[in-house]
Parts: sequence; C-alpha cells; structure tokens
Amino acid sequence: MSTIDPRPSVGITSIGLSLPSLALPLSELAKLRGEDPGKYLYGLGCCEMALCAGDEGVVELATTAAERALARWSGDLQDIGLIAVGTESALDMSRPLSAWVADRLGLRGAVRSYEVKHACYGGTLALKQAAEWQLAGASGGKAALVIAADVALYAPLDPGEPTQGAGAVAMIIEGSLTQRPAVATIDPTSHAWSEPAFDFWRPVGEEFPRVDGPFSLDCYKRGAEHCLTQWIGERTAVDALAELEALCFHVPFPKMVKKAVLHCAEAFGLEESEASDLFSQKVDPTMDWNRHCGNAYTASLWIAVASALAGMTEGCRIAAFSYGSGFGAELLTLTAGSQAAEGPWVDDIETDFARRQTIDAANYELLRGLQMAQTA
Ligand code: COA
Repeated sequence: MSTIDPRPSVGITSIGLSLPSLALPLSELAKLRGEDPGKYLYGLGCCEMALCAGDEGVVELATTAAERALARWSGDLQDIGLIAVGTESALDMSRPLSAWVADRLGLRGAVRSYEVKHACYGGTLALKQAAEWQLAGASGGKAALVIAADVALYAPLDPGEPTQGAGAVAMIIEGSLTQRPAVATIDPTSHAWSEPAFDFWRPVGEEFPRVDGPFSLDCYKRGAEHCLTQWIGERTAVDALAELEALCFHVPFPKMVKKAVLHCAEAFGLEESEASDLFSQKVDPTMDWNRHCGNAYTASLWIAVASALAGMTEGCRIAAFSYGSGFGAELLTLTAGSQAAEGPWVDDIETDFARRQTIDAANYELLRGLQMAQTA
C-alpha cells in the first residue's frame, strides 16, 4: 500500500542576487602588501574582491537582492508573511536588519520580521526556519522572504584582508501540495553539527573580526566531515556522491573549500584521483562567481548554490554545506526545479559584474581610509 506524504513540497521559488559597485583585483592588493600575487591567486584561489562604494552597504545590497527576487516572482508584497535576514554585518544590537530592508521595500503589517546571527551560517538558518515554517503549516499560505547579506572587511594588513568581499542573495520560500518549487525543492531532512569554539569572532564594539585562521580551517573541515558522514549514512561515499550534480560549500576562499574536500575524501577512503575528480567536477565549478566577489559571509554559500542551479536540468540534485564560526554547520540537499535550466538570476550577476568599477591599489587605500574615518 502506498502512503501519501501530506507535507507540502517546500523550496525556493525565486532568487535575486546583488553585488556592490566596486572591485579590487587581488593582484593590486598584492602590490600594496608586498606579496607575490601568486599567493592570493593560486595560494588562496581568489581573483577579485567586491567592495562597497561610500553610499553602499549591507542594507542596499540586501534590498536590491530582495527587489530582484520579488520582481521575477509571480506574487507580490502582500503575499509575504515572513522576512528574515541572516547577516553578521548587523547595524544595531537590537533593531534587526530586516527592519531596514522591510522599510525600503515598503513591507509592513501581518509579517514576522527578524534577523538571524550565527556568523556565515545565519543565512542558512533563516532559510531552514522559513522552510520549516512552511512545512509546519504555519504560514497561512504566505511566502517567506529570506536574505543572506554581508560586507566582509578585515583590518588593513590582517592576513584575512585578501579574502574580503560583499554580496547578498534573496530567496522566496514557498510550500505547495500540488506544485514543486520553480527554482529548487529543499529536502526537509538536513544534517547539522556544532561545537562551541572561538575560531572567528567579533567582540561587541570592535569593527573588525578576530580570526584564528588555522583553527578555523580545522573546525570547517571537521564540520564538513561530520555533516557529510551523517548524510552518507549506510551508503558508500562513492554511491552517495554519485547522486549529486554539484556539491556547494560556504566559500571563505576557494582554497579553504579544496582543503575541506580533500580532507573529507581522505576520511571517506576515496582514492586520490576520485578526490581530485570530485573537487574539479562537482565543487570547483560552483565557485566561479565567488572567485570574483570574495567572501560575502552568509551569502557566500548561496552565491555558489545560485551558480550551481543556473543551467541545471530539472530533477538534478545538489548538496549545500553551510558553515558559521562559533561553530555551527549544516548540510542541506536540494533538487533543481523547472526554472533552474533557464536560471534568470544569472542576469543579476552579469549586470553587476558588467557595471562595477575596477579600482587600483591607490584607490583602495583611499576607500579604506575614508571608511575608517567614518566609523572612528
Ligand atoms: N604562489 C602560490 N602560492 C603561494 C605563494 C605563491 N607565491 N605564497 C604562498 N602561497 C600559498 C601558501 O603555500 C598557502 O597555501 P597552502 O595553505 O596550501 O599551504 C597559501 O598560499 C596561503 O599562505 P599562508 O602563508 O598560509 O597565508 P597567511 O598566513 O597569510 O594566511 C589566510 C592567510 C587567509 C589563509 C588566513 O588568514 C585564514 O585562514 N584566514 C581566514 C579564515 C577564515 O576566513 N575563516 C572564516 C571562517 S570560515
């Protein structure tokens, strides 16, 4: 006897992305810091970092991403019952970033509005909560607007400086008993792992984060191994991974992702050639946009997911590994929907890459000087 699953099919029905208007080639930063450009380009795997101009910030990025997601969605603002922003670029200890964004969007009334913080994991938590709100039948037929947005800056000269970046991804999350989500279905079961740690943190009142680079790499690798192990379950790693068209990671910088993939492959007993094929075929291609915008913290994983889904045949499966320092990690699995093949959100990235201005080392110094003076 077959059983009917009474739960709605929940997932992403629209995506919008936004990148800021400036870009610094890593070769320019290398010049400024007296480093061999090869360290940034090949040692870290970064090409360019996205930077905000004086009149841009996390609110503008989040709002633009949301406007783009809403513009290509069939519903309108009255159909949104929840807005959640995952960020570690909060403007206030009390007022949520969602209030700034809702204000810009003109979203008010019977709407739950809040901010989620857990370093780079905050956007994924917001998305999971929205999906579970739909699954629980608590949405009253409304949609959720989830935004992951950040501006990642380190102190000038900090070893993390070459990994800086910025960006936002907005996703509309809906559930339906009759239709599959147009962009991607999110599987209700995901695989979480957390351990209290001080690997990357920003004390209250401090402008820039503190990071223990080698320790954060260890935590990230451990989180990935534990989450993937839970997902693989009784299967062999080879069989489980064969099910995926793409494996997306949170991208602090592409080399960190490669280290985690090779670590997990070794832990799962994969041959060297299998590990290398896994990285080059299923992971590396998902980071094409990340290499040109840097670490956008909460948005980084979702930039990789948006890139992976674009052009994908309906029904193909992907996995998304989210990591936030502190630390919390979670592996989600998704299935591409009917709109993925067309991937209309690619326009957002192409528009922003085409119109952004490339600055040189001297202008980067000026920009940082101005930003530091503004916040002093
Ligand atoms: N050509 C090619 N590669 C080079 C090079 C050159 N000329 N010079 C150095 N490299 C390589 C190094 O060998 C190293 O590669 P490896 O790690 O595979 O050995 C890499 O470049 C980085 O060099 P390293 O000396 O380790 O850099 P660093 O001490 O300045 O550290 C970071 C820089 C970014 C790695 C470190 O600050 C960090 O991990 N930061 C942030 C971590 C993070 O973002 N955590 C957030 C939570 S997820």
